Amino acid sequence: MASPKKRKLDEIDAGKVTGTQPGPSRIGSESGGGASAGASVQVPFTPGAHSQRETVFQRQEHDGALSFQYACNDGDPYHSIWIICLKNIFSKQLPNMPRSYIARLLMDRSHRSVVVVRRGTQVVGGITYRPFHSQGFGEIAFCAVTAPEQVKGFGARLMNWTKEYARMHDSLQYFLTYADNNAVGYFSKQGFTTGITMPKDQWHGWIKDYDGGTLMEGRIHSTLAFVRFPQMLRCQRQALDAAIRSLSRCHIVYPGLSHSGPDGQCIHIPIDQIPGVKEAGWSAEQQPVPRLRLLLDRTVSEPTPSNLQRFMSLVLAALQAQEESWPFREPVPADEVPDYYTIIKNPVDLSLVEKRLSSARYYLTLDIFLADLRRMISNCHIYNGADTVYYKQGSKLESFLDQYLMSHVLMDQTG
Ligand code: ACO
Repeated sequence: MASPKKRKLDEIDAGKVTGTQPGPSRIGSESGGGASAGASVQVPFTPGAHSQRETVFQRQEHDGALSFQYACNDGDPYHSIWIICLKNIFSKQLPNMPRSYIARLLMDRSHRSVVVVRRGTQVVGGITYRPFHSQGFGEIAFCAVTAPEQVKGFGARLMNWTKEYARMHDSLQYFLTYADNNAVGYFSKQGFTTGITMPKDQWHGWIKDYDGGTLMEGRIHSTLAFVRFPQMLRCQRQALDAAIRSLSRCHIVYPGLSHSGPDGQCIHIPIDQIPGVKEAGWSAEQQPVPRLRLLLDRTVSEPTPSNLQRFMSLVLAALQAQEESWPFREPVPADEVPDYYTIIKNPVDLSLVEKRLSSARYYLTLDIFLADLRRMISNCHIYNGADTVYYKQGSKLESFLDQYLMSHVLMDQTG
């Protein structure tokens, strides 16, 4: 068979499809007044799996290796051949449907088919629907992809083209279908729902009821670019990025700080000299007065470095003394729990907290210390199911920590 005669949408699209590879999204190009010290960075737009799959199909369609053809029994020889091939696929993939019934609907002139044709000759699958023009909806009668090509994305692309054609050629706004129970998942992923939003008098009585199928509705939105999803998503992403840039400076990246001087000594950097801090709106007047007081030896104390260090040691000792803290006292043994460290990327345990605390330079604020403890508990909750002993022990330890902090940390309300 020669290459398909009718490729209207393909041809229209061919120009637009060129260069559809998602490109980087320039973040920081609108740097704004205070951005001179910052570097603008390019954050690449990473398309999701769905977009990537669609882009591959678009390229094949552009190269002529694949096409989605709109066909009906109108005397066109190509249409006749495609419809016969489709009949064979439907007969095989929908064994509960009588063959004569499939043939009758496919040859019926009021039905339309969208056919997946590879290299101009090989029919891979298709969808057949009957448009009810006056009612604005179509009923999908059959939908199938040949067995070796299933679950490769053809079904999703086919549905997108079917919606595109149904809107363009038949002016439809909805699809209805009785989905086989094992195909409900597929239709759901194509935007179909079991809730029918179309007014009942628009469709009821126009289609037959089928036993053993689930009635589902798919909306054919009037403006969605069904066959150009990747480009549409990229445009939306760019618009979103631009809107965020107009409100925030989070796209401006400043050079990092070096942790130490050439001789390895710690460098003291005033806050206002840290690149980006002033640009982010900080001013010395805003510097908060100490907002917390600590209850140490039943005395309210200032959070001086030495008081803070003592307080954190007391918290740690109290946690270690708790009965339910035993799974948290040492690192999770990798030989006993082999997948733990592939799931938990930032492990924390009480022995690590103790080591960090004893250096006296790691936990410079209470927040940093508590962040480690909270991470330890959230790691436990991520790895263990809610009904496990470990999960419950994590929760108990967290409650204990909360109570301890409530009774030993006094927040300054005026700060
Ligand atoms: N159940 C749940 N999910 C499914 C199913 C299924 N039976 N089939 C596909 N999906 C999911 C895929 O996992 C994929 O999900 P993702 O986007 O998250 O990755 C998505 O649907 C699209 O999958 P495709 O690979 O594009 O679908 P495929 O090419 O396999 O075509 C079809 C789907 C037409 C259902 C095909 O599997 C088929 O021909 N099945 C046998 C015939 C059949 O059951 N047809 C429907 C009968 S109902 C009717 O005709 C009205």
